[in-house]
Parts: sequence; structure tokens; C-alpha cells
Amino acid sequence: MKKLSFDFNNMMDYNAGRHGIKAKELQAFAPNAALAFKHLASILKDRKKRVALSLEWANLPFQDKSSIEAIQKLGKEIAGKYENVVSLGIGGSYLGIKAAQDALLPPYYNDFPALRKGCPRIFFEGNNLDPETLSSLFANLNPKKTFIVVISKSGETTETKAALELAEAWLKKGVGPKFARQILAVTDPRSGTLRKKISAASAKDPLAYRSLPLLEGVGGRFSELNMGLMHLAVTGVKINEVLKGAAGMAKICDHGDMLKNPALLYAVLSVLEFQRKGKPLSILMPFSEQLKSTADWYIQLLAESTGKKYARSVVSVDGLERWVENKSRVINTGRTPIAARGTNDLHSIQQNNIEGRNDKVVTFIRVEKFRRDLQLPNGSDFLSGRKLSELLKTAQEGTAWALTREKRPNCAIILPALNAYYWGALLFFFEMATAYEGELLGINAFNQPGVESYKNYMFHKLKKPGISKAVAEEIEGNPVRKTRRYTL
Ligand code: PA5
Repeated sequence: MKKLSFDFNNMMDYNAGRHGIKAKELQAFAPNAALAFKHLASILKDRKKRVALSLEWANLPFQDKSSIEAIQKLGKEIAGKYENVVSLGIGGSYLGIKAAQDALLPPYYNDFPALRKGCPRIFFEGNNLDPETLSSLFANLNPKKTFIVVISKSGETTETKAALELAEAWLKKGVGPKFARQILAVTDPRSGTLRKKISAASAKDPLAYRSLPLLEGVGGRFSELNMGLMHLAVTGVKINEVLKGAAGMAKICDHGDMLKNPALLYAVLSVLEFQRKGKPLSILMPFSEQLKSTADWYIQLLAESTGKKYARSVVSVDGLERWVENKSRVINTGRTPIAARGTNDLHSIQQNNIEGRNDKVVTFIRVEKFRRDLQLPNGSDFLSGRKLSELLKTAQEGTAWALTREKRPNCAIILPALNAYYWGALLFFFEMATAYEGELLGINAFNQPGVESYKNYMFHKLKKPGISKAVAEEIEGNPVRKTRRYTL
């Protein structure tokens, strides 16, 4: 079977000039890369360490087959009974599923029954507080034919909680008191308000609020192969193929020599470009409409994992390694990710990529063989008889050539085909690359303290019980100043 490959020729100095990396520079960095690999590998091989540091996701490709079978059975049952599934969740509890849906189901899946092959339509909600979308969806769906899957690791997220409460009220009105039989929750097995709700409801009716666990040590943005499995099962995707692809990539990445480990190499090149060549921006540009949402997922993965204020300190708690913020080392690090897609965004962001500041690295994702292709009719035009896949490939090569001519570093990840196996491999490639990048930057890539402030502000203003006095005082003591003079 062909492998996913990584072409980084255009990141090197012989193509990108002084903006590229010299072979010697790469060689000199090899000990750092080997150290990052060694440290992560020592954590990955021990379950206790993985869980303590939120790296349990790395074991998901090897998860127990019997639980997958149970999920598949439940997924089939839901698919057989309902015309619609509404998936509620945000951030890591949304983006991976959306990425899977767009990559692995046929385009226009929701629009045409023939494409769905008896599976339900899938809608995504709870990923915003915008009242228009949910109102419109509920006004147009039949509650009797709709199943709700709510996903929240913490079980506390405002967007998801609000959408769930509205969905419950809507279902109750439409189907009566047994409405909770049409809800499945994916959440922490023990803690959180959502878990409490499930326990209380299922004690009265075992079919109400069925649930699946979001495993300990698996953070949201790394959880697609855990929280996303029900979505794959409901839509008839071969879960085992996705896991096999991810496991294959895990095996490839089990190498301390970066020239044999593409995820490690991707992290090294990214960090060198970021720290030594002045490239803080990272543009991910799949040349595939179906992979745009995968780029959106990666934006979250990279931004939340590596955009950090403090360096990390390693401490030991009960004999286990833990990472804490080193408040005396403010580093404000992390590349800024941007999602784009070819060829659509060649008529948009590409002008800036080519002629704007030389402060970015473009990563292309290319699909070698499409499931379906189209050939243009024969005629006198230069396009006569060409396949769309050929035009797309030439456009990608042209974009890489144009960037390289201007000494703009770029690289390409090449998928032999877009299917469950290679998508699983791609997902795991990015997850491993992000973990390595966190190591190289000396940060904790598995928390997201920066997103807490707005939540605390909301909780305080909305009077959620349990907000600490210190948080309340901080919010009240530091109001945003507003003068009429600066509001026109
Ligand atoms: O990656 C993460 O951990 C976050 O993006 C979360 O997924 C997001 O905040 C949603 O959290 P939860 O799943 O607890 O509702």
C-alpha cells in the first residue's frame, strides 16, 4: 500500500534561498529533535504518564475492538430509526467530527438521499451562541425523526449546554416525556454537570440519555478518534480503517531520526522557520474541497496547543511527571495558523502569500487519486479533454513554483487517496507533529488556559454559582475603559 508522503524540498535553502533551511542547520538540530522524540516516547509507552499529561490520545489508534463494535451497533440502531442527527459541541468537541464528515462522506451528503445510503442527515449546532441557526434548524426538522448527540468533555461548556437545553425543550414539546431517549451524550465518565444529568435521568429510565465516555487523558482537540466514533458509526464510515491509518502513522512516527519520522521533521522545520527565519504564520492549504474542514480542525489543534504565554516547568507529583506554567518565563510563543484551500483561495489570500510580507510557510495537502473525476469535453480549447484532477494538480504545482520563485518556503503532504485509511493517517500525523512542536518549544501543548478568561467573564456576569472571589475581583477591578469620544 502506498504511504502518505511529505515533500519538503521547498523549505530548503537550495529552493527558498535565505528563507530556507540549510542541510547543515537541519543536521545541527538533530540532537534537539532526538531529545524531543525520546522524552515523548518515554511518556507514550506508559499509560499512567500518558493520562497524567493528557497524552492518552496517542493510544486511541490501538483502542479495544469490542468497544468499537458496540459503538457501531448503536450507530446502526440510530441510523435505522432517525432521519436526522444533530451534533451539539464546540471546539475539540466539534471540529474533528466536521472534518471527518467533509473528508469521508460524499460532498452534498445531506442534500441527496442516494448519497446517504439510508444514513441520517447530520447537522452541527452548539458551536456558537448565534440564535438564528438553531432557530432555523428546529423550525425545519421533525423532532420525531431527529436524534441529538451532545459532546462535551467537561460537560460545562456554555455554548453546548445552552444548545442542549433548547434541544431538550424542543424534543419534549415534539415527542413527549420520553424525549431523553433521543439523546446520546459523550462526556467525561465521572465529572461535570452533563454526567450528573445522565446519571439522574438514566436511573429513572435506562434508555434516557445513553452515553459514551470521553476518556481520561484525552483533550478535546485530540479526541476525534474517541468522541468522533459515534458520528462515524452513524454515517457508515469504516471506523477500523480510520484507526488502521492512524496506527500506521503511529508506527512510522516511532523513530528518533527525524529523517525517518515525518511528523517530527514537520515540527522541526516549522520551529526552525518560526524561530530563525521570521515565519510566524502557517498557512495550511489543502487542494481538495473536502479537506477544508480538516484544515479548520488543524487551526484549533495548532493554535490552542502551541499558542502559549509561559514556558513549562517539569515537576514530579506522586512520582509522576507533571507540567506547570513557569510564571517567571513569559515566552508568548506559537505559530499563527491560517486555513485556506486551493484552488478557491488562489483568488484570495494567495496574492498576499506571494507578494506580501515573507513571514509565512505554506503547507499544501495534495490528493493523488480522487474517488471520482471529470473529463472536459473535447474541443479546440487548451482545456479540451483534460481531467479536473489534472488541472487541480497543475494548479498546486504552479502555486508551489510561484511561491518558491519568490523564495517563500512551502511544503506538501501527499495523500495517495482520500479515504478513511489515509485520513486517519493524516489526522495522526498532525497530532504527533503538534506534540513534537510543543516539546521543541518547551511548553505544555495539552492545556488551553488562554480560553478560560472569556468563560470566567461570562460565568461571572451571568452569575454562575461557584466563581471564585479572586476571579470576580479581577473582572470588576479591570473594566475595559470606554469613552464616547472614541465611539463614532
Ligand atoms: O481542545 C479543547 O480541549 C477545547 O477546545 C474543548 O474541546 C472546547 O473548549 C469544548 O470543551 P468541552 O468538550 O469540555 O465542551
